[in-house]
Amino acid sequence: MTEAAELMEAEGGTPQGRIRVPGDKSISHRAVMLASVAQGESRISGFLPGEDCLASLAAFRSMGVPIEGPDGDRVRIRGGGRAGLQPPPGVLDLGNSGTSLRLLAGLLAGQPFASELTGDASLRRRPMDRVIEPLEAMGARLRAGGEGQRPPIVIEPATELHGIRYRLPVASAQVKSAVLLAGLYARGETCVIEPQPTRDHTERMLETLGYSLHRPEPGAICLEGGGQLQGGELTVPGDLSSAAFFLVAAAMVPGSDLTVAGVGVNPTRRGVLEILRSMGAEIEEQEPRILGGEPVADLRVRGGELRGIEIDPQLVPLAIDEFPVLFVAAAAARGRTVLRDAAELRVKESDRIQVMAEGLQRLGIEAEPRPDGIRIEGGQLRGGTVDARNDHRVAMAFAVASVAASGPITVRGSGAIRTSFPGFPETASEAGLNLYLPEEASPLGE
Ligand code: S3P
Repeated sequence: MTEAAELMEAEGGTPQGRIRVPGDKSISHRAVMLASVAQGESRISGFLPGEDCLASLAAFRSMGVPIEGPDGDRVRIRGGGRAGLQPPPGVLDLGNSGTSLRLLAGLLAGQPFASELTGDASLRRRPMDRVIEPLEAMGARLRAGGEGQRPPIVIEPATELHGIRYRLPVASAQVKSAVLLAGLYARGETCVIEPQPTRDHTERMLETLGYSLHRPEPGAICLEGGGQLQGGELTVPGDLSSAAFFLVAAAMVPGSDLTVAGVGVNPTRRGVLEILRSMGAEIEEQEPRILGGEPVADLRVRGGELRGIEIDPQLVPLAIDEFPVLFVAAAAARGRTVLRDAAELRVKESDRIQVMAEGLQRLGIEAEPRPDGIRIEGGQLRGGTVDARNDHRVAMAFAVASVAASGPITVRGSGAIRTSFPGFPETASEAGLNLYLPEEASPLGE
């Protein structure tokens, strides 16, 4: 994002109408990765041209994969099959994207060439021991250059990987996916056992591209190494994590009526809908359908009064990326909201518990950060300036907070929004929010 757009100002609005959000980030990454090692052509539509997914795309391009696009939301990839990757000419810089780095670590662990993965300052602070440990157990050789197993990650050429049965110590779809992707290149069977369900887009897309999986018991997912993916049509639905900003905005304002069309509502991602509903939000799922192997619906929200709740810990992995904006909903709700068992939020693009608590406090809300969660006392949000610390979801959460605030909110460090939601200010304007970029005298879209 440009320097000027590092700052964003938001001043109320009544969410209404019908909007669309860009393609799902998690699914877009997987489409690039799996199509690149599939045999033959894949055509992706609905691809998210955000910086994170473009980082994945650039990585595979530099490994010799012919990729056309993105042309709007379309990408065409001519995969050379499981052995079709070339050694990258230099270090692969994945920018801000944890998904790119962790999934690539899995995929590259079994390649016959060396590679090195790194990213920006935020990504270089994020833990990688969670992928290094299982990949080493499969026979991969990886080294973390940063302190405490942090990036850069150097991967030595693989001799031979062997399948493992791995019980995830943290509920992480990135770790599950890294192990399954390495499993494609391993001898024998690789199984991942999940403590709690996490997003299953990797599994769905492997099956869409013709790879067999089996699930011997609930929570276990297994594949046999050595098979071949076949290129095909991949359709990416709208990103529920991006839609969430508008769902919350509409839910907080009595009288609002907003539909976000074509959004992915995969059961492993639906936590935000369940949490908002238990806070009293009225959300209708219209025209449920399947698109590219993923459940999709149009989400209609009508605003009203929200109430604070104790968030069910079972829902944490199913809503993991939506907590910044759910904290805003909690701030605008009547009563107390408490979140537990969510320490993972401290190792996202920022420490989302600390950064959100500080921002909410600046907006006049009592918010107590705790080691594994937060307590928020709902009240009247006021205007002010908050620092999103270059975390895209924090920046967008505070921008939409303004619809429930008594004054304008200035968000510093909003540049990272382009990693996941290019066009956010325009979509926000279309939805009836008043967003301004500096030096602009009038709201966007007017
Ligand atoms: C993702 C998994 C989640 C999520 C991230 C995307 C994925 O991370 O927070 O934004 O695409 O697999 P964890 O696996 O660390 O929970």
